[in-house]
Amino acid sequence: MTFEVTINGDRHSVDVDGDTPLLWVLRDVLGMTGTKFGCGMALCGACTVHVDGEAVRSCITSIDSIGDAKVTTIEAIGKTPAGHKIQQAWLDREVPQCGYCQSGQIMSASALLASKPQPTDADIDDAMSGNICRCGTYVRIREAIKQAAQSGG
Ligand code: FES
Ligand code: FES
Repeated sequence: MTFEVTINGDRHSVDVDGDTPLLWVLRDVLGMTGTKFGCGMALCGACTVHVDGEAVRSCITSIDSIGDAKVTTIEAIGKTPAGHKIQQAWLDREVPQCGYCQSGQIMSASALLASKPQPTDADIDDAMSGNICRCGTYVRIREAIKQAAQSGG
């Protein structure tokens, strides 16, 4: 079946089964491999993207549930005000280690900052607790979110 989806401002037509996860449409059909596969069961956060600005796990989000919603991925998050601040803070704080989880971390952090420009520690815990980092970069992630929140503009 053919689905029309808007990803990073561009319309795409994809011919897949309706229950195909958005993650596989992004990676395998459209070649957008910045969004990562970790667990496939909504347990790790590596596959996080935004659907109408909300952080969702693309591994359990079927393509037929997207409809007219706007999908944003790591490839374009730097064009949003919150995403730009988060990416700059990630660079300044040298957050990544192996990097595998970091697309998802940045997407969750960007959604947080867009909805709560001055997040509390509890807000950060709530927003980021579903994003696992096997390298243990959690302290730098928290520092970078706080830096981004203070960066103004
Ligand atoms: S791959 Fe989606 S949450 Fe782990
Ligand atoms: S930086 Fe390696 S898993 Fe997070």
